[in-house]
Amino acid sequence: MGYKVAVVGATGAVGREMLTTLAERDFPATEVVALASEKSAGTEVSYGEEKTLKVQNLATYDFKGTDIALFSAGGSISEKYAPIAAAAGCVAIDNSSHFRMDPDVPLVVPEVNAGAVAKYGKRNIIANPNCSTAQLVVALKPLHDLAQIKRVVVSTYQSVSGAGKEGMDELFTQTRAIYVNDPVENTQFTKQIAFNVIPHIDKFMDDGSTKEEWKMTSEVKKILDPAIELVAMCVRVPVFIGHAEAVFIETEDSLSVEEARDAMQDFPGLVVVDHRADEGYVTPQECAGEDAVYVSRVRKDPTVKNGLIFWCVSDNLRKGAALNAVQIAETLVKNHLEKAA
Ligand SMILES: NC(=O)c1ccc[n+]([C@@H]2O[C@H](COP(=O)([O-])OP(=O)(O)OC[C@H]3O[C@@H](n4cnc5c(N)ncnc54)[C@H](OP(=O)(O)O)[C@@H]3O)[C@@H](O)[C@H]2O)c1
Repeated sequence: MGYKVAVVGATGAVGREMLTTLAERDFPATEVVALASEKSAGTEVSYGEEKTLKVQNLATYDFKGTDIALFSAGGSISEKYAPIAAAAGCVAIDNSSHFRMDPDVPLVVPEVNAGAVAKYGKRNIIANPNCSTAQLVVALKPLHDLAQIKRVVVSTYQSVSGAGKEGMDELFTQTRAIYVNDPVENTQFTKQIAFNVIPHIDKFMDDGSTKEEWKMTSEVKKILDPAIELVAMCVRVPVFIGHAEAVFIETEDSLSVEEARDAMQDFPGLVVVDHRADEGYVTPQECAGEDAVYVSRVRKDPTVKNGLIFWCVSDNLRKGAALNAVQIAETLVKNHLEKAA
């Protein structure tokens, strides 16, 4: 026995990665359905190395009989169609920000709070966090368990694939235009992204922060601990895949660099690469296509009582989106759904 799984947004940056991840991890699916907008209906997407799936129109799809739907087609699509899928008896695992702060919807990173999946039944919807939050909570969890994190300051360096396939196209097109002296146009980002960095992701909030920064604070509180104070500065950088973060933490109890490294190395999904040498740290370019969250440059912050600094990178399309969603589906199947896999 297995499960009928739908991928909503199957032609997008995250949706394609979801199909790859489902196939790579041998998810117990009897059938996988690729859904996207009307304009993509009839086109084909890859599922694993050998299979292709014909894309169907989400607007006319009947979710009855579908066990799990992985949504990655944007907030307004999730807002409309996730409840439709849920009402048809399908569990929606949503990548958009729409349901993340709903108290009746668990927000899950399985290495950190897999137990929260148990509450999926209130709305039949489970939310996946923002890409920059997912990798951060994996790195913070073992340190929080060891020494109780009080405060986090984080600066992000986020790749253009965080803005979907059109964000990636814009970096490519602008870079090419600059080399051949063509005019540079920006439609996906607020300023030129090629050969530049932009300290503005998502819309501005009343207090001067951006919604991306607010998401990091509120999502870390919901997933890890509401007592943690977190302030973020989120920056878009001209990298295709892989988000990086410079993380500064203050803990209640003292924590040595060695203790921190050991705890992080032992934590599932986390890999420490930390040698004080040219090759002794991981960059976004090296983590693209990888599942792990990588931590490097762990050291003491001498300016506060119990402070630690580290560098954290991960593939935003994998742990930041597709992989995390598939891991949630695996947790759901293993612990909560009735069909035997
Ligand atoms: N990229 C990341 O790192 C990341 C991380 C976490 C969460 N997310 C979230 O995941 C979602 C998708 O992101 P993405 O980066 O994959 O975007 P994307 O590359 O732009 O892909 C968007 C997908 O949504 C589909 N879509 C758009 N309008 C639709 C409609 N009316 N009906 C059905 N399908 C429709 C598109 O299908 P067509 O090709 O037919 O238009 C496409 O498959 C967003 O909510 C995003 O916030 C992204």
